[in-house]
Amino acid sequence: MTRIIAAAKALEAALALLDRGGVAAIPTETVYGLAGDATNGRAVARIFEIKGRPQFNPLICHVSDLAMAGQHAEFNGLARKLAKAFWPGPLTLVLPRRGDSQVHPLVSAGHPTLALRMPQGFGAQLIARLGRPLAAPSANTSGRISATSAQAVERDLGGKIDLIVDAGPSPVGIESTIVKVEPGALYLLRPGGITAEEIEAVAGMPLLPPDPHKKDAPGMLSSHYAPAAPLRMGVRAVRPEEALLAFGPTRAAGADGAKATINLSPEGDLREAAVRLFAALQELDRPGISGIAAEPIPKIGLGVAINDRLKRAAAPRGINAGDMPQSAIGYEQ
Ligand code: TXA
Ligand code: MG
Repeated sequence: MTRIIAAAKALEAALALLDRGGVAAIPTETVYGLAGDATNGRAVARIFEIKGRPQFNPLICHVSDLAMAGQHAEFNGLARKLAKAFWPGPLTLVLPRRGDSQVHPLVSAGHPTLALRMPQGFGAQLIARLGRPLAAPSANTSGRISATSAQAVERDLGGKIDLIVDAGPSPVGIESTIVKVEPGALYLLRPGGITAEEIEAVAGMPLLPPDPHKKDAPGMLSSHYAPAAPLRMGVRAVRPEEALLAFGPTRAAGADGAKATINLSPEGDLREAAVRLFAALQELDRPGISGIAAEPIPKIGLGVAINDRLKRAAAPRGINAGDMPQSAIGYEQ
């Protein structure tokens, strides 16, 4: 049986469960995470098992403060500057792993780096009390849409985990931005809740695209956020039997004939759209539709991360984005 407990009352129960190597779904400001003690190999293995995630895909390690982060990874000046500016918050830093880190090697799946993030709210309190980092990927079956509410976690993973901590809808709604820090260079491995512009402004240098030859972003399978129904992006004309993922004040042609419509933000606010994205995809992904048609969303600010997630949801299943020509990704011109 999966218990759901409100965050205000869940700290002791979550702590007891995680301390003995259990796994719990916990809220973070981005999406819900499937958390286990990062220093406990059995707990980490259990996370992979519950998610059905390929083992080569490493997990993000969540910490409660900079001191804890510094015990596990090497921070250069640039990394420290970014952590001070954006933590706690939706930024994950990929840094060289320290040789004496107690984080279980399964977390970084054999990579010499560690992905670290300091979340806000319940997660931070929990980690501070536990005194050890929590490994936590998004709380969804591998390949499915990330959960942004306790109910979404229950629908996907109910029965497979003991505890879901409920703090209501995730305020950011889209996963953290992942940045790899190297001496004198920053690489954007995944766009997310903090925009590239915000990071570049603090860093005083550009965010570079990941080097495809380095396999820097091992988890970036193109169909990572897949609804069951096929998805088309940039749609200006809705096809018969499609559900419509709308954005902004003006509708695509044929919108009246859509089987269902959800507008991510009638005012065209990208922050609001990010918050609602995953719940909207889940809601539209219903039996009897021929597919999901997504209206164009501007590729600026948080729109970059939203388009990235839609591109993955639209992609043919199980193919790596880096291996695909743009034309195969499902854009409608
Ligand atoms: O907002 C978030 O980041 C959420 C919440 C729960 O914190 N977590 C999340 O985790 O999205 P996950 O596991 O679904 O995605 C983590 C991504 C994966 O694509 C993984 O490959 C990448 O981070 N990653 C983890 N460790 C890495 C490393 N050492 N180098 C490069 N990429 C890494
Ligand atoms: Mg995920």
